[in-house]
Amino acid sequence: MSTIDQIVVEVVAIEQVAPMIKEFTLQPAEGQFTPFSAGAHVVVEMGEGEQRYRNAYSLMSDPNDNRQYQIAVRLQEESRGGSIYMHEQVAVGDQLKISPPANLFAPEWRAKKHILFAGGVGITPFLSYVPVMQQRGAEFELHYMYRSQQTGAYSAELTEQLGDRCCCYDADQSSRCDIAVVMADQPLGTHFYICGPESLIEAVQATADELGIPAGAIHWEEFAGAKPGQPFTVELSRSGVELAVAANKSVLETLEAADIDIPNLCRAGVCGQCVCDVSEGEIEHRDAYLSDAEKQSGQRMMPCVSRAAGERLVLDI
Ligand code: FES
Repeated sequence: MSTIDQIVVEVVAIEQVAPMIKEFTLQPAEGQFTPFSAGAHVVVEMGEGEQRYRNAYSLMSDPNDNRQYQIAVRLQEESRGGSIYMHEQVAVGDQLKISPPANLFAPEWRAKKHILFAGGVGITPFLSYVPVMQQRGAEFELHYMYRSQQTGAYSAELTEQLGDRCCCYDADQSSRCDIAVVMADQPLGTHFYICGPESLIEAVQATADELGIPAGAIHWEEFAGAKPGQPFTVELSRSGVELAVAANKSVLETLEAADIDIPNLCRAGVCGQCVCDVSEGEIEHRDAYLSDAEKQSGQRMMPCVSRAAGERLVLDI
């Protein structure tokens, strides 16, 4: 995302929709938003200087309504700063910058049936799926897992709206989803979508393997950006510039703080946009984009999530 593409928005409403989740309603400072497609996200830029963060959030409002966008932000216990900033610093009337919507998690409309698995705040992309699926008369089921003492936003509204097409599982009430039962005996041509923590994505993928469901019918979006790690140094081979990557910053964020813009869409190691060539140093790959062979070759990395395995990396930029 180049800063030129950014859209200035005003926060017009903030609502605490679950103990750990706040919903933000955004309107453009000027003109109108562009429509978006179900499953799209925006990258929100907040703060300034050392306290500048860019996080990707799913758009959860109706894609046909371009008067406003809505996002929901879960306060992360291990936040590197962005979610705390959104929860504690952002107020109604503030302005933020967002990227235009991009979609890495669109429904596969050729599917016969859609099974949606949401974990906690992973419900958000599915909130934009539901109105479109209803409009198209698509067959779908939503399986929503949460802990009511932390997350669980919108469960009452969804149950009322969708009836038995929505199953809610509150772990704080010992209610659990039997993923294997849900996935078994679905009609041929069913596609499965997962948004939530890594453990949920892995559980659905493992069940799909056991049931012989093809990988192409499984779609997922992990709700996590870069995780912290050890500090290290990156050197940019073309300019000789050296930058210190702090423990709680990604390489991408460190480059951006130095006004070096790298294309990016997901900021979570899945889209492939931010790929950088590496000429020296050992990489700790944390992405889901590069193949195992590419990772082993040590020649490329995704700076939005991956880090140095040692004290130094030299990037060919
Ligand atoms: S921004 Fe998508 S992989 Fe890095």
